[in-house]
Amino acid sequence: MSEFRAAVITASDKGFSGERQDASGLLVQKILREAGYSIAYYAILPDDRNMLAEAMRHLCDEEIADLILTTGGTGFSPRDFTPEATTDIAERMVPGIPEAMRAESMKITNRAMLSRSVAALRRRTLIINLPGSPKAVQESLTCILPALEHGLEILTGQAKECAENKKESRDQK
Ligand code: MTE
Repeated sequence: MSEFRAAVITASDKGFSGERQDASGLLVQKILREAGYSIAYYAILPDDRNMLAEAMRHLCDEEIADLILTTGGTGFSPRDFTPEATTDIAERMVPGIPEAMRAESMKITNRAMLSRSVAALRRRTLIINLPGSPKAVQESLTCILPALEHGLEILTGQAKECAENKKESRDQK
């Protein structure tokens, strides 16, 4: 595949203050590199809605990344605001991606339904929220990665049509 540029944002007060090692952010990067992505940006940010939204807006509007993966802040804690920060700057929502993550993850743990993650498009960037634990990152990413390349090709103008890929997609099933 063409080398898409990914940005990884860990939303974690404890990670930001250095109280906790960011195992999930590092794991996201490892999985992405193994799948052929380059890492254009990585940051640990606090669970602050405005800071998260501004970081994502900058990455989209300055065309720094084709794909932004966030990890953390999708649950019910009072400071979990990653989905809201994403929605704040979204131009178009992509409900199928979190639907797929939750459907697949529910086969592993019914707590998957507790993640409020969203996916969205802003300009030519796809943003996806992943839950915060390394286990959840691994499980969620494994399920969505195979379909992302085609979406990113359409988003970035490298592919115009889905038609020629339809047979291929069926064969991949
Ligand atoms: N998804 C998968 N695949 N595996 C998991 O272990 N954990 C869930 C859920 N999604 C989990 C998962 C749990 S326990 C919570 S509380 C929510 O993600 C939110 O996590 P976050 O607040 O760290 O984003």
